[in-house]
Amino acid sequence: MELTGRPSGAPPLPALALAIALGFALAAPADAAIKLPSYIKTCSRNDPNLNECALKNGKAAIPYLLPGDPKIKLPSLNPLRVQEVRVDQEGSVGLNLLLRDLDIVGLGDGDLRSVRFDPKQLVLDVHLFVPRLQLLGKYNISGRILIIPIHGKGDANITLDNVPLNYTLRFAMEARKGKEYLKVVDKKIAFDASQAHFIFENLFDGDERLRANVRRVVNENWRQVIEDIGPPVVSAIGEVVTQLLKGFVTAVPYAEIFPDTPA
Ligand SMILES: *[C@@H]1O[C@H](CO)[C@@H](O)[C@H](O)[C@H]1NC(C)=O
Ligand SMILES: *[C@@H]1O[C@H](CO)[C@@H](O)[C@H](O)[C@H]1NC(C)=O
Ligand SMILES: *[C@@H]1O[C@H](CO)[C@@H](O)[C@H](O)[C@H]1NC(C)=O
Repeated sequence: MELTGRPSGAPPLPALALAIALGFALAAPADAAIKLPSYIKTCSRNDPNLNECALKNGKAAIPYLLPGDPKIKLPSLNPLRVQEVRVDQEGSVGLNLLLRDLDIVGLGDGDLRSVRFDPKQLVLDVHLFVPRLQLLGKYNISGRILIIPIHGKGDANITLDNVPLNYTLRFAMEARKGKEYLKVVDKKIAFDASQAHFIFENLFDGDERLRANVRRVVNENWRQVIEDIGPPVVSAIGEVVTQLLKGFVTAVPYAEIFPDTPA
């Protein structure tokens, strides 16, 4: 079944639990320091043009980061493979969606638009624009979309077009063995999309009569459907990126990421 429409970018529903299993080792053990690779150029935290410096160096590092780098425990980002994304919504929506063996395709075409880091507040704000984000994998869905009971499993293709992603991370400073490290304490992700397509093959295990009914109701109410499914899926991507970043900042001292050198 295919659904198309425009999501609102509304935040995930409050009663939402999200569980994600990544197919790779994440954070290095706290004492296993990682050396910053030479393709990541650092910016002085005292640089009056810190944001321009971070954007320039970020753009320059992306081509090296996309294929992944085992030395910094970074998996391939294009595609980014995620073992499992689970969306469990309680209440009137009551949708359970399991996505497995997901390939997230399209981050490689992303355009880094701005990077802002505030060394006083320890807030990092990144804006990325992705022309087309595709999530390809297996799904298992059960529960309700709108008020319609729904179930099925098979191949899924969730595609979002023209996706601006605003990603904000708030850190605290943490001292370990005489060195300071950033620690993620909060994250926010805001996104939009000009269009979304959801393809769930074999919905209702292929029962044509049920599918026709659902297609009719869903097409009449597509906006609501996409508001239900879109935000948790994008939050899941944000969660993956946060996990990667956490692994990185846990292993590289703050003074190596943003050296305290004269501007
Ligand atoms: C699919 O989801 C249903 C309901 O959550 C569960 O009973 C079933 O075991 C799941 N199947 C697979 C293959 O994960
Ligand atoms: C996924 O869906 C999009 C939009 O419908 C389509 O353009 C794309 O070819 C599909 N990808 C695959 C691998 O089927
Ligand atoms: C991202 O931030 C920019 C600049 O602050 C803003 O114009 C834009 O609306 C934001 N986009 C989303 C999806 O929140």
